[in-house]
Amino acid sequence: MNPQMNPQQQAQARARIESMKQQFEQKRAITDALSDIKHKIGVYSGKGGVGKTTIAVNLAVSLAMDGASVGILDVDIDCPNVVRALKIAEQPVVSEDRQMVPPERFGVKVMSMGFFQQNEEEAIIWRGPMVHNAINQFLQSTEWGELDYLVIDLPPGTSDAPLTIMQALDLDGFVVVTTPQELAQIDAKRSINMIRKLNVNVLGIVENFCGEIFGEGSGEALAEDMDLNFLGRLRMKTDYLDTSKPTVLNSNTVLEEFLHIAAGVRSGLDNVEQEAG
Ligand SMILES: Nc1ncnc2c1ncn2[C@@H]1O[C@H](COP(=O)(O)OP(=O)(O)OP(=O)(O)O)[C@@H](O)[C@H]1O
Ligand SMILES: [Mg+2]
Repeated sequence: MNPQMNPQQQAQARARIESMKQQFEQKRAITDALSDIKHKIGVYSGKGGVGKTTIAVNLAVSLAMDGASVGILDVDIDCPNVVRALKIAEQPVVSEDRQMVPPERFGVKVMSMGFFQQNEEEAIIWRGPMVHNAINQFLQSTEWGELDYLVIDLPPGTSDAPLTIMQALDLDGFVVVTTPQELAQIDAKRSINMIRKLNVNVLGIVENFCGEIFGEGSGEALAEDMDLNFLGRLRMKTDYLDTSKPTVLNSNTVLEEFLHIAAGVRSGLDNVEQEAG
């Protein structure tokens, strides 16, 4: 340490070094915890309510139906919905080495902040650093085992939680969700720019809520405009009202839409791998 520094400056410098060490160790612990996962895919959009959770859950189940080993991680700390979408009753169990082992449902391993809420209506109001710590803790302490795919359901917005995930995880890429409405397209563009700024790949765009009411086509136009793959469109359907299980298990039409998207995601991942050499 620089001998010219006064004691206060020295203490500050020591604290900075300590914090950098901690960050480094945290990142290494996360990398270790996720080392047996082949592909990590985020599902994201800046706009709320466009179908991120629906898509993350059904995509995960579709990939599992195709024979892959799959996990889903819900990092929506404020409103964790994956547990409800998958109708999960079991809690994670704690292993001998004090890691959390996620329960499995419909062939998919699940970890969510929802497991740790007292009741479903409880509001979780946390400030940025707490969200950051909770996500990091989560990432370090889940024992996923070997997985072909980990699908990550993100909350909307461009603030703490998405940022933490983009920085903490070496994601293979994002599936960006948009809807036929013009406002969603602007938000999706913003999300894509944020992802690109953080040097993460975009695997492609999904257009949700297509059909008579909102129209269709803007997702494909956005993909063209941003030089991205268009992964497919999902029609607005009453099948989603049956919440007893993920809709791909209730409707063959929806399953077909998702298998098409899953194939696009897989080829997007192949492209990413080829580009990385
Ligand atoms: N294609 C569709 N047809 C009909 N209903 C749908 C469709 N996609 C999603 N929904 C319904 O829309 C609602 C919002 O979807 P979802 O919760 O997946 O959005 P979200 O983007 O995750 O929201 P949030 O930003 O709050 O996390 C849900 O009730 C879901 O069942
Ligand atoms: Mg959601």
